[in-house]
Amino acid sequence: MPETAELLNPLREGIRLRRTPDPCAMVIFGASGDLTERKLMPALFYLLRERMLPPGFSVMGCARTHRTDDEFRQMMGEAVRKFLRLNSESEAFVEGFEKGLYYLADDFSNPKAYEQLRTTLDRLDQEKGTAGNRLFYLATPPSFFPVIVKNLGAAGLAKPKEPGKTWTRIVLEKPFGRSLDSARDLNQVVTGVFEEDQVYRIDHYLGKETVQNLLVFRFANGIFEPFWNRRYIDHVQITVAEELGVENRGAYYEEAGLLRDMIQNHVLQLLSLVAMEPTATFQATAVRDEKAKVMRALRPIRPEAVQDFVVRGQYAEGYVGGKKVPAYRTEPKVLPTSCTETYAAFKFFIDNWRWADVPFYLRSGKRLAKRVSEISIQFRRVPHLLFRGAGAEGIEPNILSIRIQPNEGISLKFCAKLPGTTMQIRPVKMEFLYGESFGAAPPTAYETLLLDCMLGDATLFNRADAVDLSWEFVDPILDRWKQDGTKGLATYPAGSWGPKEADDFIERDGREWRRL
Ligand code: BG6
Repeated sequence: MPETAELLNPLREGIRLRRTPDPCAMVIFGASGDLTERKLMPALFYLLRERMLPPGFSVMGCARTHRTDDEFRQMMGEAVRKFLRLNSESEAFVEGFEKGLYYLADDFSNPKAYEQLRTTLDRLDQEKGTAGNRLFYLATPPSFFPVIVKNLGAAGLAKPKEPGKTWTRIVLEKPFGRSLDSARDLNQVVTGVFEEDQVYRIDHYLGKETVQNLLVFRFANGIFEPFWNRRYIDHVQITVAEELGVENRGAYYEEAGLLRDMIQNHVLQLLSLVAMEPTATFQATAVRDEKAKVMRALRPIRPEAVQDFVVRGQYAEGYVGGKKVPAYRTEPKVLPTSCTETYAAFKFFIDNWRWADVPFYLRSGKRLAKRVSEISIQFRRVPHLLFRGAGAEGIEPNILSIRIQPNEGISLKFCAKLPGTTMQIRPVKMEFLYGESFGAAPPTAYETLLLDCMLGDATLFNRADAVDLSWEFVDPILDRWKQDGTKGLATYPAGSWGPKEADDFIERDGREWRRL
């Protein structure tokens, strides 16, 4: 059954063409947090500057700290300047941007705050013409999600103000739960108050330009799809590496660890886009159905087999960018005996017709040698090598690499004859670089996703079933690690490519990690 927003969406058969959302107001819970400053405000500012926000667009920031509208405006103006490095042309938009901001200080558990919120939103409808359309954004720690959702429901804010004429939507930041059970509990609370088609579970990786391009690359070109399967592909590697450590997020990270922070969401999302079947239309239900099918086909890793399919590690002290950095265990708010993983490497299989027996190797970690996210498709070798002695034996087979970030682009590696009178073979690359092909900088993930919520397009958001399926996959691994404590937890120097155990792990299969 298509989701309601799709039925109302005139673009349901086609692509998401540029258009301006309906007039609306956005409410950000957790307005004094890092995410609001770093990501949401800069994204909203860019949307305003590009004239993509509707007239009268207003943002109501909610948080516990007391401050006035003006103080909030000033803080957010500073945040925009700090994170965007504005030129004088953009600077001229800051004042207008600040004028659309409002602030409400209260405790999220106080039902009276929601009455006040409703009154203010009604006032904005009158004064700014926000037309009764509301976007609630939960940028708080997840422990506040249930209380906010329940209070929105109790204050009558979850239902559209005028059903059929106005819309109300809610965006939930990750992590959505911390296990299958908690994700289901949270979902029960959320869908007890909101309809599923009002709920936008955000994963900012899906908003990245290069991630969206995966679908275009696969399904708008005739030449790749025929060999996108087990007949031609030897294996797939996905790397999501960060140079950063846990910074000031030690307390959060101790609870989360890499599996919950990166794999359960971002990395599995990348995987499902690489592995999904083509859809008939670029429509939320169709895309989300196909992604969910991939998650359903993931071969479960049983607790007793975890060590055969996963390596986990934690960074020790080391050097990143020439600077000495501390070990994870000595980061602020981290236990000196912590067993939390900051690195993981996986091998897994997708048990379906297309991917049977093709291993997917995946690695992600903090404090690695370089910030780089890449998907690489490694093709099978030729069945018979004509050019023995020409140097082709040692050459890697064809590799298609899709660089998510940085140096966004796609390259195809193949063999070529080295110019000369003898037959010598060398690898070369065909390369597409975003920077060279398209002059303009792409929008950030949050710009795309915020606009999509306002437009009612849920294609790039997670549906409850896919969230459940991802927890079903990671839960047994987390349980096993919990039992094992430090047993099997490898260490790696900060600034390296991860623990040696991860190299041994892939080498046992006669393969090696890409050198990035
Ligand atoms: C967040 C994680 O979701 O994604 C962070 O919580 C991580 O730990 C970040 O650093 C990575 O995002 P990006 O866009 O910088 O790759």
